[in-house]
Amino acid sequence: MNNNYRLNPWLSSANSYAAGVTFEELMMKYSFKREEILRLAGNESTIGASPKALEAAKEALLSSNYYDEPNCEELMDALIDDFKDSTPHINKLGFVIGNGMDKVIEHILCLSIQAGDTVINFSPTFDFYSFCTLKMGAKVLDLGRDEKDFQPCVKHLAADIDRHETETGSKVKVMFLCTPNNPTGNILSLSEIEDIAKICEEKNIILFIDHAYIEFTDRETFEATKIIHKYPHMVIGYTFSKAYGLAGYRVGYALMHQELKNIYLKYNTPFLCAKPSLKAAKAAIRDSEHFKKIIDNNNNERPKIEQALSELGFKVYKSHTNFILFEISENLDEQKKLAIYEHLDKDVREKDITGAIMEYLFSKGIILRRSKATSDYAIRMTIGTEAENQRVIKALSAI
Ligand SMILES: Cc1ncc(COP(=O)(O)O)c(C=O)c1O
Repeated sequence: MNNNYRLNPWLSSANSYAAGVTFEELMMKYSFKREEILRLAGNESTIGASPKALEAAKEALLSSNYYDEPNCEELMDALIDDFKDSTPHINKLGFVIGNGMDKVIEHILCLSIQAGDTVINFSPTFDFYSFCTLKMGAKVLDLGRDEKDFQPCVKHLAADIDRHETETGSKVKVMFLCTPNNPTGNILSLSEIEDIAKICEEKNIILFIDHAYIEFTDRETFEATKIIHKYPHMVIGYTFSKAYGLAGYRVGYALMHQELKNIYLKYNTPFLCAKPSLKAAKAAIRDSEHFKKIIDNNNNERPKIEQALSELGFKVYKSHTNFILFEISENLDEQKKLAIYEHLDKDVREKDITGAIMEYLFSKGIILRRSKATSDYAIRMTIGTEAENQRVIKALSAI
């Protein structure tokens, strides 16, 4: 690495974050118009944002020349109002707002992590945790997940932490637990979360529970808000990017104990979110009808896609989210592979079978996300509307 800039040494091995294929890439490659492309790759909502949220954002544009409140207090209050009935002891707790949940994650790490410290991760999971950790010169202790059901390997958690700290001299400061998990779609029960929380509490480790997809499952049963009041080291992250259809507005938030929130705010970057984004988020919380429309569409479509993909011979993983992970059989015999390649253009025949299928879908204007997290044969599909999902199933049926 050219070090004329006296960069941090660990940055020489850092990779930039890999996002999925964009509309623009496909428009260039296959000459599609934007409206012809179906992107079900980023777990965004294709139904879109609440019209009330868009109206609120438009109104906020009129006062663009003024900063909003430094810590987004108005949205914090609206969130308290939204969570108060389902969250015990909410008076002990508070929200912080970030420029996407990504920014909250980064900020939480900034509070305690120094170069050389350790962050625990259970991969396959959301890549951003390790991306951010490595960017700060910290280490990732990846305890992994069970190969069959993707539950995190926590059977010997306390001993694993002790051994790591003794062997490396590096302190474990933060743990990321994504539930439901991206990209595998599985979820932890509250008692499983609680077992992990107890160990984090004993060892002074911040436990970041990522609930980016919690709205798409039974919140009453699985949401960690029910137990957070008992665990001052617990932080629960949320986002407006998925169930509220506001990915482009970049608003995320997290619930934590007041004491930690006060520390967080002391070091928060002021005026972090754009005013139209904040107003849109607040209006989106209040538009329960639109929210329900997105959730109902997802939860009606999910079993239908799971069934259709299974009938096509894919291995489908049970999902509690707005996406489905499926795999092409590793054992596909040569004859079947050839039959699939028969349907593909010449130039994709050199690719491996998953790459070839992805490229075939691109040529039909469909963007899904290849996931190398579980195997070389996995693809992740965001759940769209009935017509959009049918379009994907029809394209896959043809091969
Ligand atoms: C598990 C998980 N956490 C966090 C995020 C980031 O959310 P945001 O768009 O609010 O930064 C994502 C986005 O895909 C995600 O999948």
